[in-house]
Amino acid sequence: MAEGKTAKGNKGERALFSGKMGFVLAAAASAVGLGNMWRFPYLAARYGGGSFLIVYIILVITFGFALMIAETALGRLTRKSVIGAYSHFGKKFAFIGVLAALVPIIITPYYCLIGGWVTKYMVSYLTMPASALAADGFFGSFVTSTSGETFLWLGIFIAIVVLVISLGVKNGIERVNKVLMPMLIVMAVGVFIYAMTLEGALDGLKYYLVPDFSKISVNLVVAAMGQMFFSLSLAMGIMVTYGSYFKKDDDLEKSVRRIEIFDTGIAILAGLMIIPAAVAVTGSPDAVAGNAGPGLMFGILPSVFADLGGAGRIVGFIFFALVFFAALTSAISLFETCVSIFCDGAKISRAKSIAICTGLIMVLAIVCNLGYNAWIGLDPMYSLFGIGEYQSMQILDFMDFISNTILMPIVALLTCIFVGWIIKPKKIADEVRESSKFRSEKLFNVMIKFIAPIFTILILVFYVLNTIGAIVL
Ligand code: PFF
Repeated sequence: MAEGKTAKGNKGERALFSGKMGFVLAAAASAVGLGNMWRFPYLAARYGGGSFLIVYIILVITFGFALMIAETALGRLTRKSVIGAYSHFGKKFAFIGVLAALVPIIITPYYCLIGGWVTKYMVSYLTMPASALAADGFFGSFVTSTSGETFLWLGIFIAIVVLVISLGVKNGIERVNKVLMPMLIVMAVGVFIYAMTLEGALDGLKYYLVPDFSKISVNLVVAAMGQMFFSLSLAMGIMVTYGSYFKKDDDLEKSVRRIEIFDTGIAILAGLMIIPAAVAVTGSPDAVAGNAGPGLMFGILPSVFADLGGAGRIVGFIFFALVFFAALTSAISLFETCVSIFCDGAKISRAKSIAICTGLIMVLAIVCNLGYNAWIGLDPMYSLFGIGEYQSMQILDFMDFISNTILMPIVALLTCIFVGWIIKPKKIADEVRESSKFRSEKLFNVMIKFIAPIFTILILVFYVLNTIGAIVL
């Protein structure tokens, strides 16, 4: 991230990105990951395809845009990472940064668990025929196995992340990513075109692209909002930190737009690749909607690859290798964030912080994993909250739910109130204007002051009432 140039921050010198593209690429490497390839397709499949897609896109270009501008400008203005950026305006605002900092600590463990699954699939294509990986129940028996295999893959993934971080070869990895990301796109387009030749895929394409407005529900909107935060790495302090490394004369607004287009484009493409194929494999959009969950990517794509015959193994390997790299760069940025939170918060050395984070993340990831296998028969405490669709939640889903559905909307709401009403949008607009005209200033002002906070409050209230059964929406 540091490219040799520095700026006078409030406290000493701060390394800066080499330019607009340095920022865009680093932020894109953090943004594009499992959220795009794994989480977006299963949520879109679950929540009505085209209806989810349209709500998601609207949220990204309005709410997501305003929040990303606010966070990056806040970072560039204060030249501090998240907790420092908020307390820059008064100690009493530090709690917003603290809440934001909690999010990566919750996400990283389960992110690494899924990273372990991706690693397993990548390696398995080298050692097994594609048809074995596509066999009925393969994924299910893998994640529920008590043999310790899932722990091994989790351990391998975390070890790679920690190794990269402690050796400081992050920049090298990000450079590799610049080559791999376009490959991932080409590959995804190829898989999409192939999937479209399958019988029934066209119904899937329609389901994914044509919105059915009757399917729009509070749960859909909440899911789309959580996904937007997750995928764009918003409401968790990451973009504040990235903004703090951004040069004063590079166009902030254009960079934000670029990240959004890139990240959303890849998510849409992942949906194109998976949803039509899923409908072709299961027979109907309803079957897909009813069964779509975290295992979607690991069940559907292997059966598409198996149909390719001998080439399936190579395609499967390359595909999971590309997803592995996308997941790795995101996991590195998540882990790195946790490390700096402990460094700054507890005033400890980087080495100590890496050790603490590794231990903490490992323990939480093991707990997530146990929820799928050894603890599967237990009725865990979280099912106390289990009302309606949350009754059957796994620990992983539960952690995902707490961070994406509860904490991130709260952090986003507090950020809007903070920027819109306390430090005032003009402060952010002036910061954006340091480098260019602020073309969408009006949109930004209205979003951050009124629409985004009111929308978030309403949607959360309806959501809670709906979940506890007080209203039926
Ligand atoms: N945005 C990433 C994804 O979609 O996979 C997840 C993520 C990565 C969140 C890095 C936060 C972060 F710092």
